[in-house]
Amino acid sequence: MTDAGSTAGLTVVHDAAELVVGPDEGTGVVVLEDAAFAALDGEVVAVGPTDEVLADYPVAGADTAVDATGKTVLPGFVDPHTHALFAGDRSDEFVAKLRGATYEEILADGGGILRTVDAVREASDEELAANLTEHLDAMLVHGTTTVEVKSGYGLDTETELRMLSAIDAAGSDHPVDVIPTFMGAHAVPRGVDAEGYTESVVADQLPAVAEQGIAEFCDVFCERGVFTAEQSRRILEAGRDHGLAPKIHADEFAAIGGTDVAAAVGAASADHLLHTDDGGRETLVDAGVAPVMLPGTAFGLGADYADARAFLDAGHEVALATDFNPNCFSRSMGFVATLASVGMRMTPHEAIRGVTSAAAGALDRDDGTGTLRTGAPADAVVLDVPTASHLSYRFDTNPVSTVLKSGVVAHE
Ligand code: NIG
Ligand code: FE
Repeated sequence: MTDAGSTAGLTVVHDAAELVVGPDEGTGVVVLEDAAFAALDGEVVAVGPTDEVLADYPVAGADTAVDATGKTVLPGFVDPHTHALFAGDRSDEFVAKLRGATYEEILADGGGILRTVDAVREASDEELAANLTEHLDAMLVHGTTTVEVKSGYGLDTETELRMLSAIDAAGSDHPVDVIPTFMGAHAVPRGVDAEGYTESVVADQLPAVAEQGIAEFCDVFCERGVFTAEQSRRILEAGRDHGLAPKIHADEFAAIGGTDVAAAVGAASADHLLHTDDGGRETLVDAGVAPVMLPGTAFGLGADYADARAFLDAGHEVALATDFNPNCFSRSMGFVATLASVGMRMTPHEAIRGVTSAAAGALDRDDGTGTLRTGAPADAVVLDVPTASHLSYRFDTNPVSTVLKSGVVAHE
């Protein structure tokens, strides 16, 4: 693995059978054939037909050259929703669910998130950072170059701050860009009620998190039996007052008003949306809140998928994420693309947009992340497949052959 901080110089990726540049005017992507891109010091400076790009930026002068003959080049995957920092093992809950237990029953019995909280509170700072590094390594191998990671397995000020520090430590040492989100309102800890806990998130946790200065977003699990819409709104507004941009888990098991809260607080995204109806969808669209769908979660729970087509058929893009967590053990955005296509009937090109530029939009990135347009960060994935559609089509081995981060080969 190459240091995230290496100077890239000139990078040229050439002769790709297909190269995805970025979003088109509809809900898909612009695809070039026999294409190349060049980057200087980690920023894309040219993209187009291979002969044109190489005329200005010959391979002979490149510090890094990748021959993508017969392969497909995509922007690096952006995973905008994960709980990738955790400890412990909940595979036994997977078996319990196969036998009929539901996610909500397990959580209400003190399992689920609350068991992971126990394990995280017991883990050392070093273990926490090492756990996340292992998962970042796996994500990079599967083509992810930017990932959002939430806290939320601490549920007290000290452990939430420890989680954010571990996210920062693992992220600063890794080629994958890590975007930290504070999620103290991920569950209600044992022995307190949601109302009292909401107060402590607002009065104790948020000021300490803001002072620590690591988190960029604030997220809430707005759900039946967890936090009400009113409590979620209070937390997200307080987070916003502390400079944290709002995000929300909405309509995963029941629609209890999370989409209204998302619109009211100007959330960057509303995520899950398994039970979002037409009204909720219009609320999000009108407010410019990015819909993030997590088909791995529906797959793992055996639940119905979110209605991606309702957004897409009305002309609105849909972002996709792994939701990697102990309840949804996948670090592969390629697998998410397959699930989005098979489970939600997203075309492969819509799914590629979902795992690249739409995902970057859900994280408020406006520097070209998730595209290979001129001026964008030179984050790219080379897939050993003949066309971009194979990202969704194939679901056997990992098709990633090379990953570039800021113009430097970070994995091959
Ligand atoms: O997005 N739904 C809430 N949070 C996670 C699950 C976290 C866990 O079960 O540990 C999610 O799916
Ligand atoms: Fe989540």
